[in-house]
Amino acid sequence: MKIAMIGGGYVGLVSGACFAAFGTEVAVVESDPSRLQALRQGRIPIYEPGLTELVAEGVAKGHLSFGDDLRAAVTGADAVFIAVGTPTRRGDGHADLSYVYAAAEQVAKCLSGYTVIVTKSTVPVGTGRRIASIIQHVTPGADVDVASNPEFLREGSAIRDFMQPDRVVIGCTSPRARSVLGQLYSPLASRPDLVLYTGIETAELIKYAANSFLAMKVTFINEMADLCEKVGANVKEVAHAIGLDARIGPRFLQPGPGFGGSCFPKDTLALVRIAQEAGAPSRLVEAVVAVNDARKASMSARVIAACGGNVRGQTIAILGLTFKPDTDDMRDSPSIPIVARLVEDGATVRVFDPQGMEPARPLLPNGTVFAPTSEAALDGADALVLVTEWDMFRSIQPDALQTMMRGKVVVDLRNVFDPATMLAHGFAYHGIGVTAR
Ligand code: UDX
Repeated sequence: MKIAMIGGGYVGLVSGACFAAFGTEVAVVESDPSRLQALRQGRIPIYEPGLTELVAEGVAKGHLSFGDDLRAAVTGADAVFIAVGTPTRRGDGHADLSYVYAAAEQVAKCLSGYTVIVTKSTVPVGTGRRIASIIQHVTPGADVDVASNPEFLREGSAIRDFMQPDRVVIGCTSPRARSVLGQLYSPLASRPDLVLYTGIETAELIKYAANSFLAMKVTFINEMADLCEKVGANVKEVAHAIGLDARIGPRFLQPGPGFGGSCFPKDTLALVRIAQEAGAPSRLVEAVVAVNDARKASMSARVIAACGGNVRGQTIAILGLTFKPDTDDMRDSPSIPIVARLVEDGATVRVFDPQGMEPARPLLPNGTVFAPTSEAALDGADALVLVTEWDMFRSIQPDALQTMMRGKVVVDLRNVFDPATMLAHGFAYHGIGVTAR
């Protein structure tokens, strides 16, 4: 089979490379010249474990190609996937669909024979129908079906999430389209119930509902962490105990500084808008957005309090900048407001992240010190703030911290360190939802 993947960004690249690994012929269309050049040279412009190798394998086998000629890619394609960005529209929180609609218009001009047009990008409910009308307006009588096929890829584990999905959701009612997409995903159909066929609006909403629910679960445990701090309970034990209930489950119950990334913030906001405009407002998701925004804004105050209330003249080491480990993505990362406030308050802030340094550089204030290693960031520091739980930080030993640091303050926003051990080494340890006794 042959497909065109419109958009060589995170979703398009991962999805295209995985389809190519199935033996499908994949033509990725990327309009950004520098990004296209990088892809053609085998340089992957994002950090995603295993992606460089998977792309190289697809190219070497002749299954994966990169270009900017949309007509060439669409001609003869069984399916055209729209995987372009749908960022939050400035001002009103809606998803910006201009790139999606532009792609649909361009594709409509290049159709040759029956084609399934698939939205892979996260798009509001009703977008598929609008794409169908755009195509019919541009090319009346075009022999196409439009389908929704949302992705559930997590940054840092995207290839695994594609290759071993909990489910594949295909939103379309046309038997022809279901047959084409069913064939594309047949290498994954290890379980008969893996592929769920739904209506197109249902599939579009499933994506937002899934992400909003996960964001709500994280926000819930974050609030429980705050309560634990007030009543002297341990949020790790609360999370473990409630997670043993099969109806709750143990995952996404790690408290932290608030969620970030390119999806949770965007998708929760979009769902709030969709629900409001549909006349079925989601007060829950509205609260998730508000609580999470407030939490991220409050983290710097937490650090300042731990440092005695005034950080002027203090040296503070920040370990972790990206919004989560195993990615270089800084979008909506909690580290950004924390560093900004500490620098503004007169601290010397030294930051280190294994993958996020270059993406972070334009996002952090002048005066931020970009340390070459975590040791360099910690050398002589008065305080350590752990923001992102990269594995490499988990192995830092308290006695090494004692040797490197000048001060004794440790603010652990991901509960990476053991409170009792830190206390035994004389540190003033501040975790999330745990009390160091
Ligand atoms: C998410 C969804 O998981 C994925 O299915 C969807 O396709 C895209 O959005 P991603 O944004 O890559 O994936 O990251 P994820 O691992 O879900 O984490 C999202 C945010 O929640 C991060 O800021 C992370 O730090 C935070 N988080 C996650 C927690 O604070 N605690 C947790 O237990 C889990």
